[in-house]
Amino acid sequence: MGTDAQFSRNMQIGRLQKGKATFFNLDGDEIEKERVEIKWDAEAAEKSGFEHFMMKEIHEQPKAVEDTINSVVKDEGIEFSEIGLEDEDIRKISQIRIVACGSAYHVGVVAQYVIEDLADIPVRVEVASEFRYRKLIFDKNELVVIISQSGETADSLAALREAKRQGIRTLAIVNVVGSSIAREADNVFYTLAGPEIAVATTKAYSTQLIACYTLAIQFAKIKGTISEERYQSLIEELLSLPKKITKILKEKERIQWFSAKQINAKDVFFIGRGIDYAISLEGSLKMKEISYIHSEAYAAGELKHGTISLIEDGILVIGVLTQNDLYEKTVSNMVECKSRGAYLMGLATYGNYSVSAL
Ligand code: BG6
Repeated sequence: MGTDAQFSRNMQIGRLQKGKATFFNLDGDEIEKERVEIKWDAEAAEKSGFEHFMMKEIHEQPKAVEDTINSVVKDEGIEFSEIGLEDEDIRKISQIRIVACGSAYHVGVVAQYVIEDLADIPVRVEVASEFRYRKLIFDKNELVVIISQSGETADSLAALREAKRQGIRTLAIVNVVGSSIAREADNVFYTLAGPEIAVATTKAYSTQLIACYTLAIQFAKIKGTISEERYQSLIEELLSLPKKITKILKEKERIQWFSAKQINAKDVFFIGRGIDYAISLEGSLKMKEISYIHSEAYAAGELKHGTISLIEDGILVIGVLTQNDLYEKTVSNMVECKSRGAYLMGLATYGNYSVSAL
């Protein structure tokens, strides 16, 4: 069940009365507003028996991910016509610049690896608060992608406006319908995570990853950099994700047992390579924001260039090890940390227990 909504813009005034909203400009003249249907319902913004919103939202990931996949994956493949991205537009893209803040920036770091790897399009990822304060050199066929759960983050909105001011096409990956970024971008890819009440994002982050993966897969198809067979198998992989997330969530107690063992950690280092490094960035941010424990994320091979001097007894090092071809490399960095007294934890793919031998 949805709800009707009307959006107030800057320099407008709203008057709320029972069952009625009226809008005025600064001269006091009434403004007619279009009504937009918001598909979120009030129940989605309640805790529904969970101890807090973040826990509820973590458990909502399978549905959020499934809904976002289903919004663009149709019988024939990925379909972006509702977003307004036609094949012709995609063919023209010379390079992509992803601009975002916080976790949404970390999604951008993943997207950089995936889009470059699959679609051979150069990608640059930028923190929005930096982007807006420096000289920007755009290519006219560049696509600027703004990622934001709320669609209201000031730096991300300013980045979007700057790109538009310079005549560059913009695509927003946004969760909140009708938010400023969604209204102003040329094209909008809505993630269907539903309301995210917890400040630290979880389910919206996951759906942003889905959005970026579908862009990468479709861009690769249109640019002819992957075979039809690979295209179909990547879509199959995407479709299998909600069940895989559900399976991981069933391990909640085991994960809590691992966390409880490390409750007294004062400093935590997340290390990984490639996408595992991007995931480390997000893990480290969550550790700081939610547990108030000091944490850093390092590209595994970079740790030795100075920072390794901080690795000593009692430091927790979490190695993210989800890619077979980079597994041994990161394991060797973890061993180095262990020799300096660190306690190691490995995050590997399901069934891969070899890291427990370290
Ligand atoms: C931060 C939140 O303040 O804002 C992060 O703690 C979030 O979780 C970031 O990723 C950016 O917000 P948004 O709404 O632009 O995605």
